[in-house]
Amino acid sequence: MSKNCVNIAVVGMGIGRPNGVALANNERGKVVALCDLDQSRMEDFAKDLPDSVRYYTDYKEMCQDPDIDAVFVGTPNQWHVPIGLEVVKNGKHVMITKPLADSESAAEEMVAAANEAGVVNMMSLSTRFDDGCRHLGHLARDGYFGELYYARSRSVRRNGIPAWNLGFIKKGGGAFRDMGVHALDAVWWVLGTPKPVHVIGTAGAKFGPHGRGYGFGREYTEDVFQQFEADDYAGGFITFENGLGLQIESFWASHQPGEFQMELFGTEAGAKLHPLMAYRCDDNQEEDIQLQPTEQMGSWDRIADHFINCILDGVACEAPLQHGLVVQKMMEGLLHSAEIGKPVSFE
Ligand SMILES: NC(=O)c1ccc[n+]([C@@H]2O[C@H](COP(=O)([O-])OP(=O)(O)OC[C@H]3O[C@@H](n4cnc5c(N)ncnc54)[C@H](O)[C@@H]3O)[C@@H](O)[C@H]2O)c1
Repeated sequence: MSKNCVNIAVVGMGIGRPNGVALANNERGKVVALCDLDQSRMEDFAKDLPDSVRYYTDYKEMCQDPDIDAVFVGTPNQWHVPIGLEVVKNGKHVMITKPLADSESAAEEMVAAANEAGVVNMMSLSTRFDDGCRHLGHLARDGYFGELYYARSRSVRRNGIPAWNLGFIKKGGGAFRDMGVHALDAVWWVLGTPKPVHVIGTAGAKFGPHGRGYGFGREYTEDVFQQFEADDYAGGFITFENGLGLQIESFWASHQPGEFQMELFGTEAGAKLHPLMAYRCDDNQEEDIQLQPTEQMGSWDRIADHFINCILDGVACEAPLQHGLVVQKMMEGLLHSAEIGKPVSFE
């Protein structure tokens, strides 16, 4: 690209806000347009932006705007792919929030279209791009842990079913695609993106359909939780081509203390994400090592910076939609395994 600034549109005024602020604050990024079904949410967000913006309530119309180079998609899961397809069809670069899609087939269609269009395509992944997670990933790539042969990763909430839009609790939403995706994507990246082979999973809804576990200080009426069609917990075990085993869990509500955790087991050292620690045991000597991330930058700023560097400088994307697709396959495989009560194998 010969320009030295990327003109960006942001779709979805929830998670679009932190992503949009970071893109607008980047010295080579400019947010020029917002798109949402709710005009008042756009007007409210526009107050946080340095430049004036155009408003769209129709994403198809927005995609025709020749002044827009790139689009961030931050709508409910079910809209990621329809909007993303329109973006790339119009030759614009695309960044999509997690999860890539609401199904494996939609994720596949999105990756194929983005690759065919030849545009920069990236997942916005706030956990993978966090200082602590990146530090673990860099240590792993430098051989600090030796061979990583086992890992556990989980997102556990005590009382946190999000239902402010029905997308979260309808088909294609659910705890695993909402928070499990962070736990899974982050650990999978730290482990070096190994190829998944088999998965066995269990999933269900023990709180949501019964009107329990809806946190965030909001009241919900029966007509909301009667529409619950998703999982409010899911867990399972994934094996990889290199022999590695991963235990993965996600709970929107549970009778357990809340936590987000990743644990790595390597032949030379192990680690935890929270707090960021490494552990070793040599000649019966136990060593607990506090790790200090070498890079410090907020994850939204890092994501925005990387997306813009990929577009303007041709830097290779560290989180292409293809990664979102592999994570989607693992998630859908686990949920399918839970449904049929049998392990599932990946091609
Ligand atoms: N850490 C993270 O990366 C993170 C955190 C929260 C949410 N998310 C993801 O962001 C997505 C949205 O979640 P949220 O919490 O921001 O939801 P939200 O309900 O707060 O915001 C979604 C917005 O999208 C708008 N919208 C819906 N359909 C649209 C359409 N067809 N065209 C234009 N606008 C449309 C809605 O009006 C709403 O304002 C989800 O996929 C979720 O997984 C990611």
